[in-house]
Amino acid sequence: MPPTESGGTPAIEFRDVEKRFGDHTVLKGLNFTVSPGERVTLIGPSGSGKTTILRLIMTLESLTGGYIDVHGEPLTHMERGGKRVALPGKQVRANTKRIGMVFQHFNLFPNMTVIENLVEAPVHVLGMKKAEAVEKARGLLQKVGLSDKENEHPSRLSGGQQQRVAIARALAMDPDILLLDEVTSALDPELVDDVLQVLRDIAEETDITMLIVTHEMQFARDVSQRVMMFDGGVILEEGHPEDIFTNPREERTRRFLSAVLD
Ligand SMILES: Nc1ncnc2c1ncn2[C@@H]1O[C@H](COP(=O)(O)OP(=O)(O)OP(=O)(O)O)[C@@H](O)[C@H]1O
Ligand SMILES: [Mg+2]
Repeated sequence: MPPTESGGTPAIEFRDVEKRFGDHTVLKGLNFTVSPGERVTLIGPSGSGKTTILRLIMTLESLTGGYIDVHGEPLTHMERGGKRVALPGKQVRANTKRIGMVFQHFNLFPNMTVIENLVEAPVHVLGMKKAEAVEKARGLLQKVGLSDKENEHPSRLSGGQQQRVAIARALAMDPDILLLDEVTSALDPELVDDVLQVLRDIAEETDITMLIVTHEMQFARDVSQRVMMFDGGVILEEGHPEDIFTNPREERTRRFLSAVLD
């Protein structure tokens, strides 16, 4: 596998990734790497495939071509004897244990309390002892400022609170990769800052690799080292947030940014 800029094995590597829905090809031979601990923001017009990229890494969508490697290991497909071979489901599930995703619409388990939402996967997927999972969950709820809500159901929380629970739930699995898909887009404006602050803290205090889809450009500038602009299923340009946001090379990026920043 090719080394990253820093010389190590990439946390995430897309090799000639193709994603088709029926006869609509969304990703066309996409290649990129993300280094361990790096924070990369994906931008691009609606329908350009940003969510699809995250869902492919989370294995919520199936690859129609190419390969995704995580920490140098194949995620869902590998090359064997010149052929592209799908890995067994069990191995795919094992490969995704340390990958977390937070969605635009929270996707909490509605029939479970807040603490049950956090304890579920560590106990059932990682085999953690219940008492240990509860203790860890309480620590995370404190971290996201929701200690007093542990026995509430999600429907009784504000959108911002639900999203902070969803972030805590992702962290309960000790992810080394965190995928964030427009996590503040469904929130009332006054709830956005609390959620972004939680994410800023995580970015500062951990070395979790993050792939971030957001329209919050100041947030993207503050936490990410690289911005990738997608359009038409390919990376149109990429670079340091400061360069991309203030001096994009491509006219398409310029138009996109001025529409988003308005
Ligand atoms: N399950 C699906 N079946 C068919 N087409 C799909 C499916 N999911 C996504 N697509 C199509 O794939 C393309 C990329 O969608 P995707 O959701 O990844 O875009 P996006 O960049 O996240 O857009 P947005 O900014 O609106 O969230 C779109 O044309 C979409 O219609
Ligand atoms: Mg999307």
